Amino acid sequence: MKIIDGKLVSAKIKEELAVEVEKLAKHGIVPGLAVVIVGDDPASRTYVNSKESNAKKLGFYSVKHQLDETVTEDELLDLIENMNADPQIHGILVQLPLPDHIDSKKVLNSISVLKDVDGFHPENIGKMIIGDDAFLPCTPNGVMKLLEYENIDLRGKHAVIIGRSNIVGKPMATLLLEKDATVTVCHSKTQDLLKITNCADIIVAAVGIPNFVTAEMVKEGAIVIDVGINRVNGKLVGDVDFESVKDKASRITPVPGGVGPMTIAMLMYNTVESAKRKGGLI
Ligand code: GUN
Repeated sequence: MKIIDGKLVSAKIKEELAVEVEKLAKHGIVPGLAVVIVGDDPASRTYVNSKESNAKKLGFYSVKHQLDETVTEDELLDLIENMNADPQIHGILVQLPLPDHIDSKKVLNSISVLKDVDGFHPENIGKMIIGDDAFLPCTPNGVMKLLEYENIDLRGKHAVIIGRSNIVGKPMATLLLEKDATVTVCHSKTQDLLKITNCADIIVAAVGIPNFVTAEMVKEGAIVIDVGINRVNGKLVGDVDFESVKDKASRITPVPGGVGPMTIAMLMYNTVESAKRKGGLI
């Protein structure tokens, strides 16, 4: 069994990005990333702080808007409109989930397609599905980069995704299909989950349930990618029962230090791409 080191791969990607940031500086361009967080969910705060500190480390212009839980939908939409028009901002990210009184779909729709570095805008999702150039959602794209760095040939392989969220499961299926994998998407209503996962060459766990994937669900030699970030008694655990699965898998991502750092690296990547595009450099 080999542990897939997401920290190492993300560090390499960020090194490459640092070079790109220097090149942009020669053209007078500084990549700008604006992150919006509403309320004070501790997990969201941790993610947003990490996005901000990574952006700063790479020399981006980084703005964080910490909004009160009581902010109105109109106030949030006004802020986004201003950022859409701000030439210093190349990427806008609104951390999800949003409070119930705000229509998340409306908010995501209002972000300029050209600044949608999260890849959540319906137009970017549509482009991704037909294989057109688009911002790709950071977590599934981060998983694809990990598989690429590991030199895993996906052609004809059976990839089983557990979870069908708009942020991970559905785009993950699209990206794996694009690389010629045979894809099965499982979810809470799936019958015979055990039988299906036992046919998988690659399992992507994105259910949000701690230690959900156990050794009996995994075929000998399978590659196991754990997208889960769950807090249990103050400790971060994935959706995969790492201790039991590691002896069956040929390769496995740890939590923390697997997919998580890749999500951030891909967000930085999308922001640099956006800045390059705006500057007419690609
Ligand atoms: N909430 C959980 N994951 C994400 C993400 O990748 N982006 C945003 N904006 N919110 C999230």
